[in-house]
Amino acid sequence: MVRNPSWASPTRTWPLFLLHLSVSDISCWSQMNWVGWIYMVIFCFDYNYLASIATKEHIITTIATKIRNYFMLWIVGTHFCSRLYQLHYVGNSFVIPAQAEGTIYTLSTIATSSIEEVSEAAPDAIKWFQLYIYNDRDVTKNLVVRAEKAGFKAIALTMDTPLFGVRRADIRNNFTLPPHLRLANFDGHLSTKIQNAEGGGSGLSKYVENLFDKNLKWDDIKWLKSITNLPIVAKGIMRADDAIKAVEAGCCGILVSNHGARQLDGVPATIEVLPEIIEAVKSYDVEVYLDGGVTTGTDVYKALALGARMVFVGRPALWGLTVGGQAGVQKMLQILRTELQFAVQIAGTPTISDITKDMVCHHSVYSKL
Ligand SMILES: Cc1cc2nc3c(=O)[nH]c(=O)nc-3n(C[C@H](O)[C@H](O)[C@H](O)COP(=O)(O)O)c2cc1C
Repeated sequence: MVRNPSWASPTRTWPLFLLHLSVSDISCWSQMNWVGWIYMVIFCFDYNYLASIATKEHIITTIATKIRNYFMLWIVGTHFCSRLYQLHYVGNSFVIPAQAEGTIYTLSTIATSSIEEVSEAAPDAIKWFQLYIYNDRDVTKNLVVRAEKAGFKAIALTMDTPLFGVRRADIRNNFTLPPHLRLANFDGHLSTKIQNAEGGGSGLSKYVENLFDKNLKWDDIKWLKSITNLPIVAKGIMRADDAIKAVEAGCCGILVSNHGARQLDGVPATIEVLPEIIEAVKSYDVEVYLDGGVTTGTDVYKALALGARMVFVGRPALWGLTVGGQAGVQKMLQILRTELQFAVQIAGTPTISDITKDMVCHHSVYSKL
């Protein structure tokens, strides 16, 4: 179901959405992730001519699942976080397009649709579950067990959120959930606690501060492994040494992510740190993914060239949703796919496996000329 009131036409929602982007989080600067956001300028193409061209469907296998695309839909769990997001009933607006397009959809712990609802809406979608570890380990275990039972294929453990970054707009606006939404993975006060923040400020931040485990250790991954057979992906890795620790603790995937630069001001762009992380874990049997600032097919290409197995997108899904509801999300995925196909052919790399590191170079190579 898509709620689309008359005032929610694309022309009216875009400015609202851009405004949200520029003022909502830690600071305008970091929210837009200026470094991360424009990382496509940081790396440019260094490509071949006269290579044969093939238009192929690109299929990869990741954590034993076959996928039709190289770009996946990320969790944007708090997609209720601005007035804009209330224009559409977000519920299953991401997972259904993901199913249609053969990409992974990752559901957030703090989503407004539950594990079971999402599973029922798109039984054939490849679904991962994003996990925040709660102080109460029974709460955490319950989520993991339910995700496994509902056919989710992996757990993406978010490592970069002991608490939320300072999201100024949320504080200023006393951000809370609108009454018709709840944190659907929970019952009782855990599903509505965000609505009852004492003393004003961001209800979401207070929720996180009170309930998430701030003292996670690498050993907690071992605990997680003891309660599930699902593969664990470490989300939020930005350093080579942390990547190694995550693998040694039992993760079989590394998601290079700075949380869309929503956590800490001044973080590097994920594409900048990707090569050193790839290098650090090259002797391990581990897949490395990337998110943050991916907005075009050429962005996907560059991340693949630098060693990512696939990429995830967050905000582009929200933009698609803003403009066209569920169909808009699917359109966004199709645009990415088409752009990637063009990039692959024009860069003279007929198949994805032909894409090598030397197909891109750091902008400093040319800016120093
Ligand atoms: C509105 C919004 C909500 C998000 N919620 C979550 C979340 O609940 N859990 C999480 O691990 N990451 C969350 N993220 C971060 C995304 O998973 C992802 O790391 C980031 O959006 C990628 O950058 P991109 O938006 O530039 O593609 C959220 C991001 C946005 C924009």
